[in-house]
Amino acid sequence: MTRLMMIVAAIFTFSLAAAAQSQSKPFGIGTPVTPEQIAALDIDVRPDGTGLPAGSGTAEQGAPIYAAQCASCHGENGEGKPPYPQLLGGPRNTFDFASDYKIPRTIGNYWPYATTLYDYIHRAMPLTTPGSLTPDQTYAVTAYLLAREGILSPGQVLDAKSLAAIQMPARSHFVQDDRRGSTGGARVR
Ligand code: HEC
Repeated sequence: MTRLMMIVAAIFTFSLAAAAQSQSKPFGIGTPVTPEQIAALDIDVRPDGTGLPAGSGTAEQGAPIYAAQCASCHGENGEGKPPYPQLLGGPRNTFDFASDYKIPRTIGNYWPYATTLYDYIHRAMPLTTPGSLTPDQTYAVTAYLLAREGILSPGQVLDAKSLAAIQMPARSHFVQDDRRGSTGGARVR
């Protein structure tokens, strides 16, 4: 082997090794995922409550959590501090959001499922530290928001069962739309 060939072979071997290393390290391809890693990501809650974790909370327990971790953006009374969205209130007598985009969409006048509220808060809020609330804290702050909207009685314990049983005020406005007219809403053409 000439000296040049040896150098070329050495560079080739070196780059192969470097490529192999850079591929296995960042992506961990071929490394089995642990049940704990899957559980940390598997947090979705379906409308019927499937996926809700064990735990519970009341509006009374949620009030201080809301004041400390949510009110700075959503306002003390859920009125929203622009650009952060309003969560509570808004008119209940209209569902004309499509023709009037200025109507505030709130938990009481727009959300069809209380279970989605739990899922959203647990997954995405507070904005800067999403996923930091425990299941008990999430049940409590969800109970607080629902009680402020008059959907949950004060003192009522919210857990997987009672949360899934809640009928939201806007639920009836959401219909299956098969575009053939059998189940579509009055305004679906
Ligand atoms: C730093 C500001 C900030 C804090 C603190 C915060 N939020 Fe939010 N929140 C936002 C923003 C911004 C959005 C809109 C996100 C989007 O549309 O993608 C939002 C959206 C929401 C929504 C959905 C509103 C809707 O109808 O679309 C809910 C519910 C909510 N936040 C609850 C909470 C709760 C409960 C807490 C406290 C545990 C909290 N947020 C703390 C900024 C914040």
